[in-house]
Amino acid sequence: MHKEILLKNGQILVLRNPIPDDAENMIQYLNAVGGESDNLLFGKDEFRLTVEQEKEHIKNMNQDLNSLMLLGLVENHIVSVSQIASSNRKRIAHNSEVAISVKKEYWGIGIGNAVMNELIRFGKENTAIKNISLGVRADNHHAIKLYEKVGFEKVGYHKDYFNINGDFYDEILMDLYI
Ligand SMILES: CC(C)(COP(=O)(O)OP(=O)(O)OC[C@H]1O[C@@H](n2cnc3c(N)ncnc32)[C@H](O)[C@@H]1OP(=O)(O)O)[C@@H](O)C(=O)NCCC(=O)NCCS
Repeated sequence: MHKEILLKNGQILVLRNPIPDDAENMIQYLNAVGGESDNLLFGKDEFRLTVEQEKEHIKNMNQDLNSLMLLGLVENHIVSVSQIASSNRKRIAHNSEVAISVKKEYWGIGIGNAVMNELIRFGKENTAIKNISLGVRADNHHAIKLYEKVGFEKVGYHKDYFNINGDFYDEILMDLYI
């Protein structure tokens, strides 16, 4: 898959599947973006996969018909990594989960929106997928607004799910039923 999208600031966003050769840049990106907000499951330099492990993960994701990993690039630099992934257990394989990050200096120009729409399009076109879920820190209003805009609804929460340097935050659970 390869798509080009015009962003609000006039730059072009390229969305494509990662290839194993992207692994090193993706790890660098994820370790940096982890430190740009306290809203991800990992902080700065806490994304601990080795290049070999990340290459393997990319290969597995690209082979899995019910999952999609997407890179977002502006001028050849990674500005977003996202994925929709389904369980390989038959009884729950119709449930998929999305995860998304955008590099901070590129927030607010339409990348999150474009990426979510692409992940949802994949979910809708894949007849095996019936539900898309996500979890988001309860005070991440920017992300919650984006998810509601693209059709997610709040379905529950995990109390004190996140431990950010000793402070606990709830996780809101959101679903989009297809
Ligand atoms: C949440 C995140 C993915 C959004 O990406 P983004 O590229 O900034 O999103 P967009 O520019 O497409 O904006 C999408 C919507 O978000 C909302 N939004 C954008 N900027 C906002 C801001 N500064 N404040 C509040 N809401 C905002 C708006 O509803 C916007 O829709 P609009 O363009 O119609 O106004 C991004 O901020 C991010 O990666 N944050 C850190 C990691 C994270 O929180 N990941 C999600 C974990 S669940």
